[in-house]
Amino acid sequence: MTIAPTPNYDDALAAPTVTRMTDIVMSEHLNHRGTLFGGVALSMMDRSAFVAATRHSRQTVVTVGVDEVDYVAPVHIGEIVEVLAEVTATGRTSMTIDVTMIAEVLLSGERRLCGTGRFVFVAIGADDRPVRVPQVVPKGA
Ligand SMILES: CC(C)(COP(=O)(O)OP(=O)(O)OC[C@H]1O[C@@H](n2cnc3c(N)ncnc32)[C@H](O)[C@@H]1OP(=O)(O)O)[C@@H](O)C(=O)NCCC(=O)NCCS
Repeated sequence: MTIAPTPNYDDALAAPTVTRMTDIVMSEHLNHRGTLFGGVALSMMDRSAFVAATRHSRQTVVTVGVDEVDYVAPVHIGEIVEVLAEVTATGRTSMTIDVTMIAEVLLSGERRLCGTGRFVFVAIGADDRPVRVPQVVPKGA
């Protein structure tokens, strides 16, 4: 028997403008204080930004810069961590991706802002040189 698609199947097939990556914080993600290690959080942000940049450009993309990352509150073991990434600006071959990291308490559902970051990706061709990317449509345009 084939399992029926979820009720929101059509929404799931639509191209997302915001990339959301969701995970659960486990012991292997922790620092010595028992909260999410900054390097792991950075990796989650970079991965999420990578997916957003790839979805926007449909090219091979590489990280060229991390403009700013702020960790504003710790994420605790056993919490859900959700990383949202969105292409907010484009140059000729570069894309700026703003990233937001949210923690969610498993049983209460309480959500809080834990981090933000701004990443720059460049699209590259088969020769590893930069190639043009589609321009982002500014919000409200
Ligand atoms: C991506 C790469 C091919 C670009 O080469 P380059 O010679 O710097 O190319 P350019 O000078 O033409 O710059 C290309 C674009 O990147 C932007 N850029 C380059 N370095 C940047 C940085 N540190 N921060 C922000 N933007 C940067 C430029 O402004 C330009 O943007 P635009 O085309 O939108 O105007 C090269 O830097 C590279 O291979 N980097 C390593 C990437 C990598 O391995 N990442 C994994 C993490 S280690």
